[in-house]
Amino acid sequence: TQAHTNTHTLCSTSCSSPCYTLGFLQKNNSLGEEGRLSGALSERQKNLFTCENSDRDVRFRRTETDFSNMFRKLLFSSCWNLWTSLPTISGRRLTVPPRSLTSTIRTSYWRAWRASTSSYLTSLSPLNKSSWTAGTRSSTAFTYEIAPVFVLMEQLTLKKMREMIGWPSGEGDGIFSPGGAISNMYSVMIARYKYFPDVKTKGMSAAPRLVLFTSEHSHYSIKKAGAALGFGSENVVLLSTDERGRVIPSDLEAKILDVKQKGYHPLFVNATAGSTVYGAFDPINEIADICEKYNMWLHVDGAWGGGLLMSRKHRHKFSGVERANSVTWNPHKMMGVPLQCSAILVREKGILSGCNSMCAGYLFQPDKQYDVSFDTGDKAIQCGRHVDIFKFWLMWKAKGTIGFEQHIDRCLDLSQYLYEKIRNREGYEMVFQGVPQHTNVCFWYIPPSLRGMDPNSQEYREKLHKVAPKIKALMMESGTTMVGYQPQGQKVNFFRMVISNPAALQSDIDFLIDEIERLGHGL
Ligand SMILES: *Cc1c(COP(=O)(O)O)cnc(C)c1O
Ligand SMILES: *[C@@H]1O[C@H](CO)[C@@H](O)[C@H](O)[C@H]1NC(C)=O
Repeated sequence: TQAHTNTHTLCSTSCSSPCYTLGFLQKNNSLGEEGRLSGALSERQKNLFTCENSDRDVRFRRTETDFSNMFRKLLFSSCWNLWTSLPTISGRRLTVPPRSLTSTIRTSYWRAWRASTSSYLTSLSPLNKSSWTAGTRSSTAFTYEIAPVFVLMEQLTLKKMREMIGWPSGEGDGIFSPGGAISNMYSVMIARYKYFPDVKTKGMSAAPRLVLFTSEHSHYSIKKAGAALGFGSENVVLLSTDERGRVIPSDLEAKILDVKQKGYHPLFVNATAGSTVYGAFDPINEIADICEKYNMWLHVDGAWGGGLLMSRKHRHKFSGVERANSVTWNPHKMMGVPLQCSAILVREKGILSGCNSMCAGYLFQPDKQYDVSFDTGDKAIQCGRHVDIFKFWLMWKAKGTIGFEQHIDRCLDLSQYLYEKIRNREGYEMVFQGVPQHTNVCFWYIPPSLRGMDPNSQEYREKLHKVAPKIKALMMESGTTMVGYQPQGQKVNFFRMVISNPAALQSDIDFLIDEIERLGHGL
């Protein structure tokens, strides 16, 4: 709860570093700096691990047969090598240290590592002093007795997230899962359990033919869920979207009626808050009206958009989200928490355990000496579960909700800067009109050789389709920057710039545009 009042931001601890004065996309990050850093590191490494001073205390002198030193050295240098090669393209490093990662380096990579390696927190349990998990491997979170601290952190954080969604007093259910695709899959399973609980024991023959609805702009994970869970991908109906990629509610209603007429059962609607390509927010309230009318489950996929709930300026895009039955929210995307960290949040309490629990007698004994409702592991479809909560919990504590809000607002401001910069600039065309709802800025760069051609001609389309991949390839060859591209429906390849790093600067955006023009104008 203190998180709210803590305004401490990333920058206050790290702005003094010289790398903070340079943009991460800019070429002028000096390679000399890199040499200096790794040089300094190997010096330190020497002092740390070669034990030159070990004569002082013979107990610490290493012998040839003691491999621990070698192992540590190897481990350390391979981590460093891995680290420094992370943002390398075609053998050239983008920046040193990689600015695109700096904001996460200091605040959360080590936390991720800490949680993965910390059995010590596990062993804080008085119940667990001599357990085989303590000190022997990374923690898992299946029962309270095994990971009491992490289980409580998870419960508190989920509650806080539900409060942000707007469910009264943060009541409800939820669990952290390995990613948005799995969280979405949970939502489909819970919906099926809610309306057809017998499927849990009797299988799909206990239900009529069930149909799921989602946007044609959907991430492919819903189709995957449909196939994996035995609905069949043909029973996933795609909804038409408007020019900006938002689901059209009247199309949803028409398709529901069509499905009912065929004698099938419309079960589940997936609204997207921040679609993957356009960053579009579906009109949740209107979709919720339809779901209520036809007694269907409403899921809101905020895998990408969830972070906007932290921003007083932008959370209106989620208007109606409190009417959803379930919400996916991935702190590991927009909010910069290291993979993996995704939550499925459910409005109805108890339904998640109802759906998934198997009550295995060797883990989840009902007669334990503590309140077994804290044994949250049985809600999951996993058994051993990676501890994803620690890094997020600590990051929230450190940045505060206000820190996240600044992070989100900053990224959206930058994307608006990009949008303003190119929307009337010669040689650019926006894929959809108007200020983007999320940080996704989708645009074509039209090289001079194509300007003035008939934009509807086949030749123009074919040529334009090749422009973005070519520019990106040139970017990778020159090792300066990268930006994603893809086609969408009838639209040929376009660039999709997304910003989730609040350490980026306007000069980075300027650099990106300069690069596109430098590499693209001769095409
Ligand atoms: C990324 C994304 C997903 C999948 O999330 P993962 O964590 O990568 O599994 C689902 N839905 C949307 C809208 C996404 O952007
Ligand atoms: C819902 O739609 C979004 C994108 O539009 C997609 O990412 C997600 O996988 C879909 N499916 C489910 C089950 O939520």
